[in-house]
Amino acid sequence: MENNIQKKEIIVSGARPTGRLHLGNYWGTIRNWVELQDKYDCYFFVADWHALTTGAEDKSAKIGDNTRNMVLDLMAVGLDMKKCVFFRQSDVKAHAELFLLLSMIAPVNQLLRNPTFKDQLREFYNQKFKGQEDKKKEAEGVIKQLADSCGGDAQALQSDMAVLGFLGYPVLMAADIILYDAKYVPIGRDQLPHLEITRELVRRFNKIFRTKVFSEPQPLFTKTAIVPGLDGRKMSKSYDNTISLCEEPKSLEKKIKRMFTDPAKLKADDPGHPEGCVVCAFHRLYNPDFSRIETECPAGKRGCGQCKKELTILMEAEISRIRTRRAELEKTADIDAILAEGAKKAAAKASVKIREASKAAGLL
Ligand code: TRP
Repeated sequence: MENNIQKKEIIVSGARPTGRLHLGNYWGTIRNWVELQDKYDCYFFVADWHALTTGAEDKSAKIGDNTRNMVLDLMAVGLDMKKCVFFRQSDVKAHAELFLLLSMIAPVNQLLRNPTFKDQLREFYNQKFKGQEDKKKEAEGVIKQLADSCGGDAQALQSDMAVLGFLGYPVLMAADIILYDAKYVPIGRDQLPHLEITRELVRRFNKIFRTKVFSEPQPLFTKTAIVPGLDGRKMSKSYDNTISLCEEPKSLEKKIKRMFTDPAKLKADDPGHPEGCVVCAFHRLYNPDFSRIETECPAGKRGCGQCKKELTILMEAEISRIRTRRAELEKTADIDAILAEGAKKAAAKASVKIREASKAAGLL
């Protein structure tokens, strides 16, 4: 019998379980997942081991809860666990096994030069030492030494952040991706250095062991909206400027009132500048009639108060739908069963690959 089911291209993507999703996560990554699930063979996962690589002592207790919350949030915005293979990274032990195998060929020197290593280290310290400027400064010195010295500096490497797991972050990420023969990885530009390391590891592995077992993945730059936080900086938990995917109505109203607007617009009939205004940025995402604002605001025909009121109504309408769906799922969805099912499917594919890789490395 002819098999006319067209095989779709494979996509792999993971997200660290950092707590309840916020609108930056949604517009940046998650909305793309929902779109991609119809067009590709998608392997999506909660990168809980990756979440442990920074600050294990602070986070370990909550990663499990965060993971379950994340699954509910994802389902509430339309990720269909039957259309994609969705799993928890630490449930599929082949990720750890391939990480180990790749670590035999991953050059330490290259990992130390990885630019996101430095950035993530900084972000971690900023959170850990919130409000302690002297500690932050000290940390900045350590980061600089670590990044500059490429491993030669004993003092820098004594930092309690210089753990093997963190340095190996891109190696684990490479394992995540190539276990499933991903053709594409939907990522933001910030993750590009990691994908480059993945591609390099594929080439090295194949060359060293004279095999073709792994293939090089390509980045997939999906459309992402830059979502500002309430203060105009990037929306991020560490800046305390987020709006949750399920923000409660009262708190949503309060947060919108707090949003940064054009500082030059003092009165309603002053001409405003929509670019750089946080309220406008959100109208762009939630208001189908956005062009009206773009003409009225610079013409001095609408005030920020009015803009904020209208935005509150528009966003509440959208968020309340998600909130309702999530509340429903909380009662009905069997998260453990969903994760178990996903892990089974993922492990079936990954175990074939890990066997081929072990064979190529001469272990079997
Ligand atoms: N590093 C990614 C992030 O912080 C998460 C991640 C882990 C990932 N493994 C992955 C993303 C594999 C894509 C593919 O956002």
